[in-house]
Amino acid sequence: MNAPTPTAARSTASATVTKAVIPAAGLGTRFLPATKATPKEMLPVVDRPAIQYVVEEASSAGLDDVLLVTARGKRAVEDHFDSDTALEHALAAKGDTERLAAVRGVTGLARIHHVRQGAPLGLGHAVLCARDHVGDEPFAVLLGDDLIGPGETLLTDMLRVRARHGGSVVALMEVEPDRTHLYGCAAVKPVEYIGAGDGTLVRVSDLVEKPARDVAPSGYAVIGRYVLDPAVFDVLAATPPGHGGEIQLTDALRELAASEDHPVHGVVFSGRRYDTGDRASYLRTVVELACERPDLGSDFRRWLTDFVRSGRVAAHG
Ligand code: UTP
Repeated sequence: MNAPTPTAARSTASATVTKAVIPAAGLGTRFLPATKATPKEMLPVVDRPAIQYVVEEASSAGLDDVLLVTARGKRAVEDHFDSDTALEHALAAKGDTERLAAVRGVTGLARIHHVRQGAPLGLGHAVLCARDHVGDEPFAVLLGDDLIGPGETLLTDMLRVRARHGGSVVALMEVEPDRTHLYGCAAVKPVEYIGAGDGTLVRVSDLVEKPARDVAPSGYAVIGRYVLDPAVFDVLAATPPGHGGEIQLTDALRELAASEDHPVHGVVFSGRRYDTGDRASYLRTVVELACERPDLGSDFRRWLTDFVRSGRVAAHG
């Protein structure tokens, strides 16, 4: 591949990250037919759509400029983060201040922008659609259906690694060998321990998209958080379709990792992470997060305990 040599890593190394890009233009085929007319990012996790948790995470990490990469059929994602004056008036007229605050809170999370990906050509292509908005700055990418447990500091840890080392940063999780074919997998060299609770920092030397267990470079899977140098855009623009005929972000990062002047680091994460685009993981997400909710948790936990004790769960096994 004739991608230009990435030189921007040095020039932007000290720039602060303020922008988050959230790709949400995928087809969501694993969750059909629910996602035929409803974007998978809008599936409710307790009482908020999955993508709201992702925007909240970006906002908590100090990223107040959020670009949603959407597509035809994803209008609900755009509407969710837009203000709704009629709804606000109706809630105010009823004196429902709690729900009014919840509705207004959504629009106050960040400055939200969107761009459309004309065709689902892959995650790499979705990130490339953000180029005009991001410009020559480092930026974060958070996948719109990938939730990190509330209270986890993964994104903040990654931003700190970027500030210290420049280049790009991926989030890695150890997976069982029979699951490598579901992820991009990284070949890594240990660098240092970041600090209590923060996990391990590694240098990524190679990346392979969805490898079979016998060819996977390791059990370290790339999950849906990235902090990227703008050098990635030139590489993406020259990246041909890869696995599944899609333009893969993994392939562009592989090219950057191979170049001397663009480090790609990995923060190894062992906390809670949920793929809400996968049905089984989605169900676990809803149950776990419902159990933790101060307003619903105690009743729900009681019901869940009774349900398990009743033998109706075991009866299906
Ligand atoms: P996924 O592979 O999880 O999304 O992509 P998908 O293609 O919608 O899922 P399935 O396999 O058909 O169920 C990871 C992320 O990248 C986005 C998705 O929206 C998701 O957040 N994506 C993927 C895009 O924005 N554009 C694409 O062309 C592909």
